[in-house]
Amino acid sequence: MKIVVFFSGTGTNLQSIIENQDKYGYEVCSCFTNNPNAEGINVCHSHGLHCEIVDHQRFAERADFDNEIDKYLNIIEPDFVILAGYMRILSSFLVDNWEGQIINIHPSLLPKYPGLNTHQRALDAGDKYHGTTIHFVTSELDDGPIIRQEAFEIEPSDTKNSLINKVKEIENRIYPETISFLNK
Ligand code: GRF
Repeated sequence: MKIVVFFSGTGTNLQSIIENQDKYGYEVCSCFTNNPNAEGINVCHSHGLHCEIVDHQRFAERADFDNEIDKYLNIIEPDFVILAGYMRILSSFLVDNWEGQIINIHPSLLPKYPGLNTHQRALDAGDKYHGTTIHFVTSELDDGPIIRQEAFEIEPSDTKNSLINKVKEIENRIYPETISFLNK
């Protein structure tokens, strides 16, 4: 199974996905970022992987940028497109063209807290639990069919940063394994 990983930032999930390829029997054939300064680019290079860098700021329209992505994906022909901290919303034509093949990880227990700032929102709401969700991407933001969720209890001492770290620890563990369960 061939996958391409999209990211915009640090890339801890990217790293975990790359490092678990042999264990879980998938192949990261390429990586993509919209952010020329993303730390994850170094992760790709240190593992000898090509990273396609297309700065979204060069495009006035989202559709033009996503056309570039579509062209790139048509060359790579991945079985799945894995979004791992990719911070751009995808155009509906792109989602339609790759229907059922785009997977995202979102740092909340969806349907709670789609969008940004999920950790602070969970704290502000006084939630008992927080966690992460792996789901298929549809044209509605953070709304596609859920593949897997994992939750933990929020402790009184938790802060936004501690929640970020706890969520990432879970994500780094479950994302590679969940990818291996996907059927071509
Ligand atoms: C993760 O928490 C993911 O759920 C969210 O963005 C974060 C990316 O972290 N979409 P990293 O770049 O993989 O470290």
